[in-house]
This record gives sequence, C-alpha cells and structure tokens, in this order.
Amino acid sequence: MICLATLFIAEMNLILHIIILVVLFVSLELKFMKRLFLHGATMLIALVLHVISFILVMWPSFRLSYPYGYNTFSFITVTHAILGGTTLILAIWLIASWRFQRSLKSCSKRKNKMLLVFVMWVIALLLGILLYLYLYTTLVPWL
Ligand code: HEM
Repeated sequence: MICLATLFIAEMNLILHIIILVVLFVSLELKFMKRLFLHGATMLIALVLHVISFILVMWPSFRLSYPYGYNTFSFITVTHAILGGTTLILAIWLIASWRFQRSLKSCSKRKNKMLLVFVMWVIALLLGILLYLYLYTTLVPWL
C-alpha cells in the first residue's frame, strides 16, 4: 500500500512537472515574439522549479529506490534521470552564461544548444509524468 505522504509528494512533483512544461512552452512563445529578455527570465523560472523538484523529490527518491533490473520501467527511469540531470547542468550553464546582460548577442550564438536542451528537457518531463502514471495509477499497465 502506498503511504499518503508518498502520494502527496509524488502529486506535488507531478504538478511541478506540468508547470515546468507550461513555462517552457510560454518561454518558447516569448522567443518567437522576440521578447528575448523575458524568454531568458522564464527559462530561469523553469530552472528554479526543476532544481526544487530535483532536490526535494527526485534525487532522494532515486537514491532510495534505484531501479535495478532490465525491464522497461528501469529503462524509462534511468533515461529520465540521465536526461533530466544533463538538462539541469546544461540549463544552469546557459543561464549562467547570460548573467542578465541586456545585450543578447552572446545568447544568440548558443541557440542551437538551447534547442537541444529544450527538446531534452521536454522529453525528460514527459518521461517523469509517464513514471508517475505507472507508479500511482492504472493508466499504463504495459510498462
Ligand atoms: C535552459 C535555458 C534555455 C532554453 C531551454 C532555451 C531555449 C531556446 C530555444 C528552443 C530557442 C530557439 C532555437 C532556434 O530558433 O533554433 C532559443 C533561442 C534563443 N534564446 Fe533561448 N533558451 C534558454 C535560455 C536563454 C537565455 C538565458 C537567453 C538570454 C536571454 C536566451 C536567449 C535566446 C536568444 C537570443 C535566442 C535566439 C533568438 C533568435 O535569434 O531567433 N535563451 N532558446
């Protein structure tokens, strides 16, 4: 049986994942609207939320129940962890290189890397949501 506290923490983490996804797409839209400073600032918000989720939930949970074995569930968990962890490091680097400078010339040079980080981030979040559905609902019994 799943303890209520565990379920509550998992649900909070799910909500954080969904909020981060929304913030990422809002930020991308801001980039298309050429509101580039706001694009950088909203990516910073997404990063802070990701760090909170990582420190409070994902890292402790990964350490407590490292997914041993060769099955689809372990594969998805490890892929989610590797993609999520790498995204975290690259996103910190992208935002630290910007340092709120008004001139965005140096940021423009990194736009291919940003696209890569964006795609990795979205995949990591979707895998996280899939793991929640598998662990706490009956929606993905095939995993
Ligand atoms: C983790 C952080 C970030 C992610 C995931 C991200 C994501 C993206 C994506 C997907 C694009 C479109 C790339 C393309 O058109 O091929 C882009 C473009 C861009 N981003 Fe970011 N970004 C991030 C951080 C930042 C920061 C901190 C700045 C600085 C303000 C910034 C400024 C720009 C600029 C100037 C462009 C190119 C605009 C253009 O030339 O059309 N980004 N970003």
